Amino acid sequence: MGTVYLNGRYLPIEEATVSVLDRGFLFGDGVYEVIPVYGGRLFRLAQHLTRLEQSLAGIRLANPIPREGWAALFADLVARNGGGDLSVYLQVTRGVAKRDHAFPAAVSPTVFAMTSALPERPVQPGVAATVARDIRWDLCHIKAITLLPNALLRQQAVEAGATEAILVRHDVVTEGAASNVFVVQGGAVATPPKSAQILPGITRDLVVDLLGSAGIRCQERLVTQSELRSADEIWLTSSTREVVPVVRLEGVAVGAGVPGPLWHTVDRIYQDYKQRFREGRAD
Ligand code: PDD
Repeated sequence: MGTVYLNGRYLPIEEATVSVLDRGFLFGDGVYEVIPVYGGRLFRLAQHLTRLEQSLAGIRLANPIPREGWAALFADLVARNGGGDLSVYLQVTRGVAKRDHAFPAAVSPTVFAMTSALPERPVQPGVAATVARDIRWDLCHIKAITLLPNALLRQQAVEAGATEAILVRHDVVTEGAASNVFVVQGGAVATPPKSAQILPGITRDLVVDLLGSAGIRCQERLVTQSELRSADEIWLTSSTREVVPVVRLEGVAVGAGVPGPLWHTVDRIYQDYKQRFREGRAD
C-alpha cells in the first residue's frame, strides 16, 4: 500500500497509527493539502505551500516545518513511492491532548503525508452535477479537514446520480463540494471571486492564468444561480481532476449536453502546460 510519513518517520501505511486523543480525530482540528505530482515533480508546490501557511495561520497553528523542509519531505515521500504521476495528501492537526475544546498548551502537531494514485482521465469527459444550498461555515478559504458538510453534500449528489454538488449561498454560486466552478455564457468565462466563502483553488488560479495567456479573459465576479442554470458551459476544477466539463445540471443538459468548445480549448492548454512541467520546461 505504500510508504507514508508520520511525525518524522517513514513507515508502511499499515503501521502508521495516531492516538484516539488526536484533535484531528476528536474535533476535526487540522488542515490539509492535496498536491499533484507529474513525472516525480510536485505541481504548483510554492502555491500549495503558501495556501498551507494561510490555512495554518487561519486556525492559529504554528507551521511545524519550514518551506524547504516541506519540499524535502514531499520529494522523499514521492521517491519512496516510486515517483511518476501521483498525488500527495498532507494533513497537519493540532496534536494529541486531553479532550477540551480550547487549545492545549505546548502540544506538538501531528504531521501525516501519504501518496495516492491520480484518477484516470476519463475516455468520455463530462459529468452530471446537482445544485445544493451551501451549508458550510464562514471560513471556507481555510483548507480545514473538517469536511462533514462537504461529504454530506457530495453524498447527496452521488445519490442523485451526479458526480458533484455545485453550491449556492443566497442564490450566488460559491464552489463545488470539492472543486471550484467556472461558467461560460456567450463565449465569456467567469468564476466566483476569492473570498472566505470559497477555497482559493490552485487549479482555479492556474486556469485563470492559462486562459489569460491564451488571450481568453476570465472574469472573477459573482455568478448567480440563474446564470449557472443558463450557462453554455460549466467547468469544475481541482488538483486531482483538473478541468472537468459538467454536461448535465439537475438533470438538464448544459449547452448541447456535451463538453463545450471552450472546455476543449482550456483542457488542451492545461494538458500542454502539464506536459511542459513534466519535462521540466514549465514551473
Ligand atoms: N479538494 N474547493 C474545495 C471545497 C475543495 O475541496 C477543492 C479541492 C477545491 C479545488 O482546489 P485545488 O484546485 O487547489 O485542488 C476547491 C481536494 C482536491 C480534496 O479535498 O481532495
